[in-house]
Amino acid sequence: MAKEKTNYVCTECGGTSAKWLGKCPSCNAWNTLVEQVATPAGGPAHNRFGTQFASLAGTGDLSVLSEIEASDVDRTSTGIEELDRVLGGGIVPGGVTLIGGDPGIGKSTLLLQAVDALQRAGQNALYVTGEESGAQVALRSRRLGLDRSQVQVLAEIQLEKIIATLDAHRPAIAVIDSIQTVYSDQLTSAPGSVAQVRECAAHLTRFAKASGTAIVLVGHVTKEGALAGPRVLEHMVDTVLYFEGDTNSSFRLVRAIKNRFGAVNEIGVFAMTERGLKGVANPSAIFLSQHSDPVPGSVVLVTLEGTRPMLVEIQALVDNGGPSPRRLSVGLDRDRLAMLLAVLHRHAGVACMDQDVFVNAVGGVRISEPAADLAVMLAITSSLRGKPLPKGFIAFGEVGLAGEVRPAPRGQERLREAAKLGFSVAVVPKANAPKKGSKEIEGLTIHPVERIEEALDIVRRLD
Ligand SMILES: Nc1ncnc2c1ncn2[C@@H]1O[C@H](COP(=O)(O)OP(=O)(O)OP(=O)(O)O)[C@@H](O)[C@H]1O
Ligand SMILES: [Mg+2]
Repeated sequence: MAKEKTNYVCTECGGTSAKWLGKCPSCNAWNTLVEQVATPAGGPAHNRFGTQFASLAGTGDLSVLSEIEASDVDRTSTGIEELDRVLGGGIVPGGVTLIGGDPGIGKSTLLLQAVDALQRAGQNALYVTGEESGAQVALRSRRLGLDRSQVQVLAEIQLEKIIATLDAHRPAIAVIDSIQTVYSDQLTSAPGSVAQVRECAAHLTRFAKASGTAIVLVGHVTKEGALAGPRVLEHMVDTVLYFEGDTNSSFRLVRAIKNRFGAVNEIGVFAMTERGLKGVANPSAIFLSQHSDPVPGSVVLVTLEGTRPMLVEIQALVDNGGPSPRRLSVGLDRDRLAMLLAVLHRHAGVACMDQDVFVNAVGGVRISEPAADLAVMLAITSSLRGKPLPKGFIAFGEVGLAGEVRPAPRGQERLREAAKLGFSVAVVPKANAPKKGSKEIEGLTIHPVERIEEALDIVRRLD
């Protein structure tokens, strides 16, 4: 087959160049040219933004929206309940899922378990391995106790061969482990480069849509934790899942960042065992350290992950800093931490200007909801004062720049979960506290607050 010519296109302005240049000749932006396959000779003409002229390509058939039959998506359970939960019920035919996570976190393990379960349920599954040999995959499957697995394995990294194999076998589900190792020989850039990843993912997505095969792409993440490769990868696929967790602890979270077939921010919780990842059906208390007595700088936050409330311990350490004190956060947003410190200073008179401030969400969990604010601020002041919060204490609520404490979504559910786990004292936004006259939450003393100063006052009185 004759090779198609490649050219370079600017990701900023859409301008093209026949060879790679550091600076785009059209818009003068630096490092924006990426390789792409040029339109084959005789193909439809494109303008400089890549759109086709309808007069040359012919027109498409129009349909009236209300007349299009809306069939409900047909989902196939993966046989792993926690994975089904993040997928919105299961794998969708023709759906493309991207799953990212740190090295060694368990991506291959989870997918191997899932395809094996699907194969057992009578779905034809294909596992394409580009990172490991077939023997390595077999070794893992034996360790996981999948001795009689009928899953087909293909050790291949060339896109054209992978697609030809998929086309010939038409599996119900195919896993590509990983998209960064796949390359197309129509591009000259190295496997794993932006152009290769984008082109290969686009081809595989098109194949999935045309054939009905569900495809799962494993993606690497960068040091910053984002999926490596172009951001467009996330736009191209239907579902994006991220693996989170501290590799030192056995718990792993799988979070849906984007889902065209289900709710986002739903999480699946797993424990890594010698026999693979096992779903944790009741995960609300796994992110708590077991202090025998309360310690300064520790507050339990009730966070809402997808549909489930979970309790996560927030730890803070405030210590004398040098001339340029540090602010460091693990699992929480650093910019938000800087903002909360400013609010603490301005509205509650708590100054940390000459102090190093470290905050950490226990267990490697990432918390993005602002409802963590109150717990973070209480942990910081507790560390600064060297005074622990009372035993059985929980908090949640968003804190605004004016020092106001705003309600968190589904506060009652959070409170009930905390009470269920034996927590007894809560400082929460006023709007989240049970209304006067309504049923109280048994075992929980609730202190409603409207402002951060009020919350700090209550905590001092609880000493
Ligand atoms: N014998 C074992 N007992 C318990 N856990 C094990 C054992 N062998 C491997 N593991 C776990 O499996 C993890 C590796 O999982 P896996 O290979 O699925 O990760 P991955 O996300 O696919 O990694 P990569 O990015 O390198 O492909 C290890 O980090 C370890 O936690
Ligand atoms: Mg792997």
